[in-house]
Amino acid sequence: MNVVSRAFFSLFLVFASSASLLGQPSAGSFQTDPNWWKNAVLYEIYPRSFQDSNGDGIGDLNGITSRLDYLQTLGVNAIWLSPIYPSPQVDFGYDISDYTAIDPQYGTMADFDRLVAQAHKRNIGVIMDLVLNHTSDKHPWFKESAGSRTNPKADWYVWRDAKMVNGHREPPNNWLSLFGHSAWQWDPVRQQYYYHRFYIQQPDLNWNNPAVRKAMYDVERFWIQRGVAGFRLDAITSLFEDPTFSNEDYVLGPDGKPEINAYGDKEVETNKTDNLPEVNNVLRELRHVADQTQGRKVILIGETYLESIADLRKMYGQHNDELDLPMDMQIGFINRFDVNLFRKRINEAETGIGGNMPLFVFDNHDNPRWDRYIGTGHKDDVGRVIAAVLFASRDTALMYYGDEIGMVTTPPTRKEDVRDPIGITGWPKEKGRDGERTPMQWNDGPNAGFSPPGVTTWLPIPPSYKQINVTAEEHEPSSMLHWYQQIIALKKQDPALRDGAETMVNTGDQHVLSWLRRATNGEDAIVACNLTDQPQTISFDLSAQGIRNTRLTTLMKTPGATDPTSLRSIQLGPYGVYIGRIQ
Ligand code: GLC
Ligand code: CA
Repeated sequence: MNVVSRAFFSLFLVFASSASLLGQPSAGSFQTDPNWWKNAVLYEIYPRSFQDSNGDGIGDLNGITSRLDYLQTLGVNAIWLSPIYPSPQVDFGYDISDYTAIDPQYGTMADFDRLVAQAHKRNIGVIMDLVLNHTSDKHPWFKESAGSRTNPKADWYVWRDAKMVNGHREPPNNWLSLFGHSAWQWDPVRQQYYYHRFYIQQPDLNWNNPAVRKAMYDVERFWIQRGVAGFRLDAITSLFEDPTFSNEDYVLGPDGKPEINAYGDKEVETNKTDNLPEVNNVLRELRHVADQTQGRKVILIGETYLESIADLRKMYGQHNDELDLPMDMQIGFINRFDVNLFRKRINEAETGIGGNMPLFVFDNHDNPRWDRYIGTGHKDDVGRVIAAVLFASRDTALMYYGDEIGMVTTPPTRKEDVRDPIGITGWPKEKGRDGERTPMQWNDGPNAGFSPPGVTTWLPIPPSYKQINVTAEEHEPSSMLHWYQQIIALKKQDPALRDGAETMVNTGDQHVLSWLRRATNGEDAIVACNLTDQPQTISFDLSAQGIRNTRLTTLMKTPGATDPTSLRSIQLGPYGVYIGRIQ
């Protein structure tokens, strides 16, 4: 899996700042507590790959329902389901052909209602993935729109005339699809091009059209009435295009020539197709709909790959009336253990978003799993560090199914096995996203407990399932699963780690990332993560923070480490983690 080539999903930027904010309320019942989502643990499920209940090799809603007890034990507050609507499945659900129904391969609306009801019994919210930027080309709206230039939905998508060059038809401009090649597709009936930021089968909606907005707000209302706890807004930064439709600049390589991307195209900028300010009006309108719930707090999460904290801050809204939780991709996707970069960006998340709640994320269905951080072995140690940053920070934490057992990215090795179309277009530079979407590894039996024995699963079960699986790790006290369970429990129960204010400390240390969490009841906790493969000894003097006590009681530490008694000397093994109470 080529991490760097996936520029769309990766960011490498530097930020700076200091200080910390007061703690925020903790995660309570999502049906009665309007602050349930603050400092909460959100769990992304890729439904195709979580649990197959009917033996067709594809995960489904009843499968998820059957695993709710597991999620409750893990300490999850809400599950985000990647799209389960009817879809031709070109982009595995992100090409929706009906926004108010369930794809039969995942189940029925009755199955969905049962999942929501059973989740609620366990105080787990269900978050829907809302794809607003585009529909499937098989959606009735698009079929109608493509039928003529005069039909009632003629202006629901982004249609443009061809540019004629020396008598030849060419696309209106040089914009590229993030999934390779021109973003424009010729339609022989309308004799026009339509714009698609993603696959050809995912035409972009025209968000300048009030009828499109109204239709989507109706979709939002539909799912709120079915009891969902929130929405994850897909590709939300790309709803609008620059109205001039002028060419993008080419991205130049070090030799001054246009860079060639994994698909063989001359790479262009996305200044005219991403992060345009008009989106904030839509976010306020979505927020307004989400707030009409008679007291139940429905949250809006955004898929926001943004390059600066200032841009991320804007997504909360000038008056904090837009997204509740735009994803902070600036920390989790640093993709290497650069202690200074982590420190700066965590500081930014504390100080640069106007006192709002940050949402940290390291993993999702579009990127290689956290094993991408492993440089020189130490797989589980690396995973424990990532879990410490994710759960011991003052944040809402978003995790991805399988992270908690240390599932490894398992990309296809032959082009003919690839399921994700970008892996076919981009092979071998871009192998696609199958590697991070493999079936959940429940046990070491046939099909890892994902599908019944003898069934061919939609993606192969990674060979690692023999060692890396839920059942084995439940029985092993030093397992990754136990680490996740413990640190999530601390995040929810410990006053300092739950919502205590956060300050980075020992900020000159080039190896160890450390921060202080301070609860309003006076309980303080220290967190230290060794980001290197060498042992480190560290010492804290927190008198500048007004802390004179130096005694420590261990809350968590990596397996094999000894318990330090004082802040003056803490030994950390390679990628060691220590979390302690200061007394
Ligand atoms: C988002 C999704 C990704 C999908 C794309 C187009 O980035 O996370 O999986 O392919 O949008 O909908
Ligand atoms: Ca199934």
